[in-house]
Amino acid sequence: MDLQWFAAGAGAVALLFIFYHFIRVLLNILGPYVFSQPIDLKKKAGAPWAVVTGATDGIGKSYSFELARRGFNIYLVSRTQSKLEQTKKEILQQYSNVEVRFATYDFTNPSPADYQKLLDKLNEVNIGILINNVGMFFEYPDVLHEIQGGIETLANVAVVNILPPTLLSAGILPQMVSRKAGIIVNIGSAAGAVPMAKWSVYSASKKYISWLTATLRKEYGHQGIIFQTITPLMVATKMAGSPDTSFFCPTSDAFAKSALNTIGNSSDTTGYITHQLEYEMMNLMPEFIIDKAVIRSSAKLREAALAKKEEKLLS
Ligand SMILES: NC(=O)c1ccc[n+]([C@@H]2O[C@H](COP(=O)([O-])OP(=O)(O)OC[C@H]3O[C@@H](n4cnc5c(N)ncnc54)[C@H](OP(=O)(O)O)[C@@H]3O)[C@@H](O)[C@H]2O)c1
Repeated sequence: MDLQWFAAGAGAVALLFIFYHFIRVLLNILGPYVFSQPIDLKKKAGAPWAVVTGATDGIGKSYSFELARRGFNIYLVSRTQSKLEQTKKEILQQYSNVEVRFATYDFTNPSPADYQKLLDKLNEVNIGILINNVGMFFEYPDVLHEIQGGIETLANVAVVNILPPTLLSAGILPQMVSRKAGIIVNIGSAAGAVPMAKWSVYSASKKYISWLTATLRKEYGHQGIIFQTITPLMVATKMAGSPDTSFFCPTSDAFAKSALNTIGNSSDTTGYITHQLEYEMMNLMPEFIIDKAVIRSSAKLREAALAKKEEKLLS
């Protein structure tokens, strides 16, 4: 009899556990993307300027346009002057009611003195939103010692992915703290959710982003400042190899619009509903299956990158 009660109790606990996880997964997928209304970004930001790093292409450019559409002045930060000028022009053509400024900075430069100069420039305006988007990936995934570009590439990927959200947040937070308002979004990656073989520094640096954002939320969350980590899967940008768009691979415009709507509704999410679906499925799988899928997709990325390189050489 005792054994029967024990078995029934264990069964009930197991069912509750499964039910809890099912509800959690469902809420992660539907909560920020279906059930929630976008918050009033202007009110939560508390100031009219949005700073976006890596703002001349892909996700960062799309965030800049979408924030301009929502009435924010945009401070673009990227490395190529001509692309910054062009992006500024394009934003103003579409949204003449906002102001746009830009600063050139190559984020492979880790110098604190140069960061300070950039921060002094940025802090001349009242910043309500900081989108730490700039990021760098390898030419293609490979084991650590065979990464194209060797230790220079490894150093650049680590520096570009880790320093900007750390130092720009530290330098811009004082004005947000004094206002008791502000929003900081750090763009990580689903590649930071599991240790991905052949993605080493990229995967680890994206884990850093999630961890940093979570600690900052604990330090400043009670002061009215929102911290959000966005962990996308595949978005159709240059970094991703400009793939065709699909159900699981949105344009950067569709992605940025969706991700901006999740601010204040989720502190850590992929940014796009079909990505969230993929992410939750991935989390349900045993790690060895994910490992196999990563190895397979990394080999495909390597092949595609090498084929592109050869094509370029022949043309
Ligand atoms: N695309 C995806 O599938 C995907 C998935 C997960 C996470 N993410 C993350 O999303 C973020 C944006 O990626 P993306 O795909 O939009 O990239 P992207 O299309 O390649 O655009 C990168 C942007 O960053 C700038 N940039 C690159 N290196 C820089 C440097 N050293 N200094 C200053 N600016 C630099 C580029 O400027 P220039 O044009 O002047 O080079 C460009 O504006 C990254 O953090 C990435 O890790 C992307």
